[in-house]
Amino acid sequence: MTASVSLSVSESLGAPIDARISAVGPVIIDCDPGTDDAIALWLALASPEIMVRAITVVGGNVGLSRTLANALAVVALTGASVPVHAGAEKPLRGAFTAAPRVHGEDGLAGVHLPPGGAAAAGQAEAVIRAMLRASPEKLTVVGIGPATNLALALRAAPDLAAKLAGIVLMSGARNGGNVSNMAEFNAWSDPEALDILLRAGCPITLAPLDLTHQALVTPARLSRLRAAGGGKVLAAACDILAALPPHPMLPGRPLHDPCAIGWLLRPDLFTAFPARVSVVCDAHARGKTEIVPAAGVAANALVLETLAADQFFAFLGERISRLP
Ligand code: RIB
Ligand code: CA
Repeated sequence: MTASVSLSVSESLGAPIDARISAVGPVIIDCDPGTDDAIALWLALASPEIMVRAITVVGGNVGLSRTLANALAVVALTGASVPVHAGAEKPLRGAFTAAPRVHGEDGLAGVHLPPGGAAAAGQAEAVIRAMLRASPEKLTVVGIGPATNLALALRAAPDLAAKLAGIVLMSGARNGGNVSNMAEFNAWSDPEALDILLRAGCPITLAPLDLTHQALVTPARLSRLRAAGGGKVLAAACDILAALPPHPMLPGRPLHDPCAIGWLLRPDLFTAFPARVSVVCDAHARGKTEIVPAAGVAANALVLETLAADQFFAFLGERISRLP
């Protein structure tokens, strides 16, 4: 676990986040693959600093049956034996809405991966609770989809927040949004779930759109990624990135979810600030996150602010090129 994540938010105020890490430790990744989720999973599975104890899946970019199949295929392509567990099909409140416009109907921008194996037994929320209870050391949870599984796990056993070294979320936006002009998809998909996590009392690191919009896949970065190695996983990752639809306003396609994993591995590539983060749950601004810089006990999250993007993509290529 990196120093800045395992410290409380108030302790991390001003803590140098250029601390190189030797081990992140045990991690559970909750995701909705999803093109960027796939890249994030490959980054984690390629990195020995992270012990991926389990992958849990939620309905999000596409429906649960597809996100589950995609997660299984992503893991199988690496040859890793990491259990993948199905989770919630829909949010705590309201209807499920996918995002096929960005990720395609299949969730991987039309890139075909060989099918993976079978899902592991156990529903995501129960598996998360069981792993937290059984682990002799604190676990880090990375949430890169709607936060439903994580919220269900902690709502049923709030005491388990003490077994978390930290929660790292790709969620929210300080300014703007991507499903409306004020809401980001993960926060908008299940704001009640995000609200539960923000009140859970464990260290939270947030990678909002303001950060992930700096991780832009440009033609130059994509060609450097392809040149980073010759394995099938890197080739699949580059095929997925090449198939992403252009962003209507940005000079590249934002690579959201790998930023959450990237921060765990290379916090030196990021800057961050402590803040009070809350989320709007009612209809008028559903999913809007309020991110107000704060110090000490007033802060409930460390918000990632800037990214050294060229170094991040070079790191991404170096790591994923290690996979088969
Ligand atoms: O808004 C971006 C987030 O929503 C990413 O996690 C993407 O995969 C989607 O889940
Ligand atoms: Ca995602």
